Amino acid sequence: IKKITTNTLQKMKSSGEKISMITAYDFSFAKMFDAAGIDVILVGDSASNVMAGHETTLPITLDQMIYHAQSVVRGVDRCLVVVDLPFGSYQGNSREALNSAIKVMKETGGHAIKLEGGENEVESIKRIVNSGVPVMGHLGLTPQSIYKFGTYNVRAKEAAEAEQLKKDALLLQEAGCFALVLEKIPAQLAAEVTASLHIPTIGIGAGGACDGQVLVMHDMLGINASFKPRFLRTYLDLESQINGAVQQYIADVKSSDFPNEHEQY
Ligand code: KIV
Ligand code: NA
Repeated sequence: IKKITTNTLQKMKSSGEKISMITAYDFSFAKMFDAAGIDVILVGDSASNVMAGHETTLPITLDQMIYHAQSVVRGVDRCLVVVDLPFGSYQGNSREALNSAIKVMKETGGHAIKLEGGENEVESIKRIVNSGVPVMGHLGLTPQSIYKFGTYNVRAKEAAEAEQLKKDALLLQEAGCFALVLEKIPAQLAAEVTASLHIPTIGIGAGGACDGQVLVMHDMLGINASFKPRFLRTYLDLESQINGAVQQYIADVKSSDFPNEHEQY
């Protein structure tokens, strides 16, 4: 098996092959996504929402992220596994950021970490990269800052924020990031950022010019059927399929149809 590395992603940008990334939080789904040939699995702090049921990504802890990442890594043979550093495990303290990154790498077997933010995080990113840990950046809508933004609306529509984002992207590249997630920004801005960088950009709600795309697994599989932002394409309607399957199971139990004589010892 040819394993995907950060170098592979760099080559994909150079050759124009798009990078496919999806989130996963457990062994079973990670195994299926890896077998399907996905390039990158992100153990996202969106686990706080889709796994734990919190309204934001803020409550999830480093140890909870580590549990998810350990489970994912056990399911993967080939793809690159990137693990989010959660809120409170890195902001404003490069020593703590380094400790968190090292803890994730030692305890999970993941291949890289991701953290949110621009200029403010440059010192931490440099320190983590210097320790030998690859870092993926994340700009635009950064959900750990939801209480600063106030909404999950598109970011950087105004010139000032767009200029800051372009500047941040270059700073993150300079700091040593191997790739950048661009979340919910205008497609034109994402295209300009992508063209200005030699490292790949991976978009979510950031248009088709990015070097790759990422979606949250629950969203693209239709497990979150009520979540329908414009950027999302759903590939399955799992919520209704699972509802139907479980209703059928209930009916079969109630009617004593299940188990039948072949389904017992
Ligand atoms: O946590 C997450 O799922 C993410 C992606 C949406 C990029 O950070
Ligand atoms: Na995240």
